[in-house]
Amino acid sequence: MHNQAHRERILILDFGAQYTQLIARRVRECGVYSEILPFDVNESAIRECAPSGVILSGGPETTTSGLTPRVPKAIFDLSVPILGICYGMQSLAQQLGGTVESSDHQEFGHADIQAASGISNSFLGTAFASSSDPGTLDVWMSHGDRVTRLPDGFECVASSVNAPIAAMQDRERKIFAVQFHPEVTHTTGGTEIIRQFVREECGSQGDWTPENIIEEAIHNIREQVGGDKVILGLSGGVDSSVVAALLSRAIGDQLTCVFVDNGLLRKNEREEVERAFSKHGDNSLNLNLVTVAAEEVFLSRLAGLDEPEAKRKVIGETFIEVFEQQANSIKGVAWLAQGTIYPDVIESAASKYGKAHVIKSHHNVGGLPERMRLKLVEPLRELFKDEVRKVGLALGLPASLINRHPFPGPGLAVRILGVVEKRSTDVLRRADAIFMEELRKADYYNKVDQAFAVYLPVKSVGVVGDARRYEPVIALRAVETTDYMTASWAHLPYNLIAVVSNRIINEISGISRVVYDVSNKPPATIEWE
Ligand code: XMP
Repeated sequence: MHNQAHRERILILDFGAQYTQLIARRVRECGVYSEILPFDVNESAIRECAPSGVILSGGPETTTSGLTPRVPKAIFDLSVPILGICYGMQSLAQQLGGTVESSDHQEFGHADIQAASGISNSFLGTAFASSSDPGTLDVWMSHGDRVTRLPDGFECVASSVNAPIAAMQDRERKIFAVQFHPEVTHTTGGTEIIRQFVREECGSQGDWTPENIIEEAIHNIREQVGGDKVILGLSGGVDSSVVAALLSRAIGDQLTCVFVDNGLLRKNEREEVERAFSKHGDNSLNLNLVTVAAEEVFLSRLAGLDEPEAKRKVIGETFIEVFEQQANSIKGVAWLAQGTIYPDVIESAASKYGKAHVIKSHHNVGGLPERMRLKLVEPLRELFKDEVRKVGLALGLPASLINRHPFPGPGLAVRILGVVEKRSTDVLRRADAIFMEELRKADYYNKVDQAFAVYLPVKSVGVVGDARRYEPVIALRAVETTDYMTASWAHLPYNLIAVVSNRIINEISGISRVVYDVSNKPPATIEWE
């Protein structure tokens, strides 16, 4: 069966919570496909989705005022289990005949909830039983309003000091609700609660597995592109690599991958991509891989530019030009493959509904599809990043490639402050490679989420022999983050930083000072430009 992965789905109705994507990821971790739709979506889209259960997200509004979001009638008409979270619980209570009140006392952070006594079949039963203190759960609260009277048919299944009705259920209609946030890792038993809902209450089997996802993607790609040729810009990053592997499984030689060496890549990057993908590489995927050596054209276009956004713009435009030239030399290409993933899709949907808070400015290949008049094939559109990684591993891509730190499209150009020159790219590449090598050796590469070296073209004094020299500085940056929107600087061991610093100063002539960046995001960004 080619659509096994999507056989069952959970619909997540988004009331604008910051945690909605987390809910979707938790559901999928339980092996069930989930889809996010905005609360004001067309009712026919709800029916079309035909979910086996619905989760109502939290949100910033209050149900105590008249004009705020409500659960659409179509959701109740589905007659499938419903789980309301925070605002989702309040809107259920309010719409089904209970009472919600604003409280002066906002509750934000950890809280203990206690299981109500005498409930025979609580949907929180497994979570309470698995707690180190059975009958109590340490949960994450974030609310001002609270439910003060249950709707008919409901019973209270848990209480906290500030929320006497912290969870409620109507067993008969299979409607469940929690005031707290089971989707965040701070809630103990959160995974059990979501698992109980999607697997037990909704009766889902767990078909959302990498193997089923791959099988379905292959079927869909074949249906979509037929016998046409497809072109893909392979960057060596996780997303484009997984797209390459999937497409090659699906359509083999109909796919051509183009890898542009813009001279702004990390050390050995080109060789690694060729080894993993080209027809000549050992253990490779045997793809039609065209490498374009374009260092000169990129560096000459960048000459003299010192503004970060101007550099980004030139790199983006040059990429499109080089890529387009290559694509035009391959006859009969009808499709462009892209590594768009689910958070990108949600983000553009949210902006369509006017709800996006942040819109990324860095789209590496923006403008390419319109200009090339190619149809788009985007086989990762429904996947979160962690799922892309799992699919990549299941397709046989090397773990070193899958677990690689992200690397920005404009590459080293945004890590060399100001003007980019061949000499500075070479120095930075070597410094960065030393940092990565030592991180791996000390087993810290996978403990941080992104790490790199930065080239600072300042004149810092160094004494070499008896002579004073004025030389640029290398800064080291390593961060821990889950979403790259906020990040903390990584507390690397001093002796690791010392080894990296010594090696850079000794091995790279022209560098006599290394510094470590101890800034969090915000306000500092992860990259220096
Ligand atoms: P910032 O510097 O905004 O970075 O804190 C957040 C994440 O985005 C990456 N980044 C980029 N990626 N093109 C990209 O493809 C860009 O222009 C760009 N700028 C930043 C950065 O590496 C980090 O992972």
